[in-house]
Amino acid sequence: MKITVVGAGAVGATCADNIARKELASELILLDIKEGFAEGKAQDMMQTAALLGFDTRIIGSTNDYTKTANSDVVVITSGLPRKPGMTREELIGTNAGIVKGVCENILKHSPNAIIIVISNPMDTMTYLALQSTGLPKNRIIGMGGTLDSARFKYQLSAHLNCSPADLNAIVVGGHGDTTMIPLVKHATWNSIPVTKFLSEEQQQQVINDTMVGGATLTKLLGTSAWYAPGAAGAALVESIVRDENKLFTCCVSLNGEYGQKDICLGVPVVIGKNGWEKIVDMDLSADEQAAFNKSADAVRSMNDVLKTL
Ligand code: 2OP
Repeated sequence: MKITVVGAGAVGATCADNIARKELASELILLDIKEGFAEGKAQDMMQTAALLGFDTRIIGSTNDYTKTANSDVVVITSGLPRKPGMTREELIGTNAGIVKGVCENILKHSPNAIIIVISNPMDTMTYLALQSTGLPKNRIIGMGGTLDSARFKYQLSAHLNCSPADLNAIVVGGHGDTTMIPLVKHATWNSIPVTKFLSEEQQQQVINDTMVGGATLTKLLGTSAWYAPGAAGAALVESIVRDENKLFTCCVSLNGEYGQKDICLGVPVVIGKNGWEKIVDMDLSADEQAAFNKSADAVRSMNDVLKTL
């Protein structure tokens, strides 16, 4: 397996570090436009190989896409991260051009790759990747819901005083502070509904804290988070390269599923060797479906901005 991570900033480097530690690739390319930056991070990570005992060769590259040739999976993290007080949507002007250029270069050298999009605004960047590459829809996966679901489990685990690993809980819809939908009524603690243990107020608190999970960290850190976004990207890579068929929420192209068309939005999908293998239907309540439709409207108007750039 050959994997490329584009963008050697905090998210890209963390994702690459996870991929290397899990030995998901024999060759891992880390690419960045900043002169020498990806080479430096790659060397630093390679110097952990003897200590951690992994056998992945990490190669850094300053914008030389020939090094990425024939990658099986490509993770795109390029673009500006948000600053405190900014929404992900405000990044569209700068990041759309960057992501489009990256997609064109990737396609030229790795026409068979599966692409995972992390760059923000993630739902619109996933849609852009699909439009600009023309790749089969199963090979374009937006990471947002995987991260948001992990944050949802974190918030639930704090209230329940339990292990996040014992929770089943997903966030669907967009990857925006106001567009994501943590499905608390469907969440379980090893099959027991979490609503049995949490008051309506506590449930609402968990939902609110999950929705601003990224913004809270941006405020604390002065820039956008990286450990969980990087780990979420690597978890998707793992399910692809090991053909695990795990169920994640990912941003994928909808063609009538969940009542939406011509949009990429977060829904439960099975991730395996072909990318997203299938969309899993779940019964949303009327309120949840209404929230999903509202989220789709917001993402669709962000997608419309692409036409004006
Ligand atoms: C976040 O929510 C990077 O969008 C990402 O932290």
